Formats: sequence, C-alpha cells, structure tokens
Amino acid sequence: MDDLILKKAVKRAVEIRKNAHAPYSGFKVGSVIITESGQMYDGVNVENSSFGATVCAERTALFNAVTNGDKTIIAIVIASVLDGKAVFPCGICRQVLADFNPGMEIVLVNADNGEIEKRVLLSELFPDNFKI
Ligand code: THU
Repeated sequence: MDDLILKKAVKRAVEIRKNAHAPYSGFKVGSVIITESGQMYDGVNVENSSFGATVCAERTALFNAVTNGDKTIIAIVIASVLDGKAVFPCGICRQVLADFNPGMEIVLVNADNGEIEKRVLLSELFPDNFKI
C-alpha cells in the first residue's frame, strides 16, 4: 500500500475519532477504509440507548465506502486506545469486513500517540470466514 495514503488515513482516523458518539461506554473509535484507487472513507462508532443498535466505527466506515459505490477495499485503519494499547476489531466487524475482502490489511493505531502499533491481514485474525 502507498505510504503517503496510509499516513493520511492514520491521521484522519485519529482526527475523526473525536466525533465518535459514545455516551454509554466512553470508548471512542475512528476508522478509515482505503480502496484500490486510494480513496478513503471514514467512520466512527455510534452508540444508542438501545445498546444492540450501536454500530462500530469499522462498519460505519465500510458502509460509507459502499454508499459511495466503492467496494474495492484493500485496508482498514482503526484508531483507538485501551489501557495504553490499540484495540483489535470485534468479531462482528471481522465477519462484515471479510465479506468484502478477507485478505484486506488491518492497521491498528494507538490514538494516544498516532503511531501504528500493528499491521495484520484480516485472514490471519479471522480465518475460514463464513460466505455464501
Ligand atoms: N467498538 C468499535 O467501534 N469497534 C470495535 O471493534 C469494538 C467496539 C465500539 C462499539 C461501542 O460503541 C464501544 O466501542 C464499546 O464497545
């Protein structure tokens, strides 16, 4: 992946995280999907008082890409921090992402310092994904 695009996506994920709507958990996540053409689509987690209606940042970003007609997803950047460490995407998001590209790259960013903490393939985190 292009280094400059990745750098921009990391910056954007950290910035956009402030817009997360997380009044119940207080846990904010910012995410940016990168597509083949280098386009970026961002998203944050949006919580709801009916807790099950909450949507994670990763799915918000993915739905933003699809809404804009761009499904050629090659990577997702996720910015957050818990106990000083970046967090991995939840199981539901892994499944949703895998439907589009099980081989995409996942980039975990520590939102405290804006540094990339880990780069891993979705297929490593979520092998043998369900697909019909
Ligand atoms: N959350 C995400 O946005 N992404 C994840 O991968 C894990 C969890 C959000 C959902 C909820 O708003 C808050 O973090 C606590 O679960």
